[in-house]
Amino acid sequence: MAAERGASATGIDASPRAIRRAEKKASERGVAARFVVGDALDLGSLGEQFDVVLDCGLFHVFNDQDRATYASSLRAAVVHGGRYFMLCFSDLQPGDWGPRRVREAEIEACFAEGWRIDSIVPSTIEITIDPSGARAWLVSATRS
Ligand SMILES: C[S@@+](CC[C@H](N)C(=O)[O-])C[C@H]1O[C@@H](n2cnc3c(N)ncnc32)[C@H](O)[C@@H]1O
Repeated sequence: MAAERGASATGIDASPRAIRRAEKKASERGVAARFVVGDALDLGSLGEQFDVVLDCGLFHVFNDQDRATYASSLRAAVVHGGRYFMLCFSDLQPGDWGPRRVREAEIEACFAEGWRIDSIVPSTIEITIDPSGARAWLVSATRS
């Protein structure tokens, strides 16, 4: 999506299978995006800095300890003034299937240091098992 809009884009996932699928999609769409099998908890090891990070469905997979590691990993990889946009399952989503629900206060606590949270708004995340999607938080933050 980012590459289609002209950005120099790098996609990261820990799963080689996910990366292979992303590479195939990009190739079919004729867009030049780079994909890397990597650990989002150690983005500093890429040795690069990014203006923008998009996170769809990653934050909510982490436990409490990994959330803190992730916030610090992001700080290492995003330029000062850079942006972070994140979509995660919200505590407004009923049921206990699927990923852990996230409360607004947990997001605020996680990004309290090194980030300014610009907005946390109710949204919807597309999922494969329900065409109406799941309740989500859309978060926008700036690296301070
Ligand atoms: C819920 S899926 C979301 C996938 C995709 N972003 C989407 O919106 O459909 C979570 C993804 O996070 C990846 N993942 C989990 N832990 C990771 C880590 N530490 N580093 C990089 N990717 C990770 C998983 O392999 C999985 O593809």
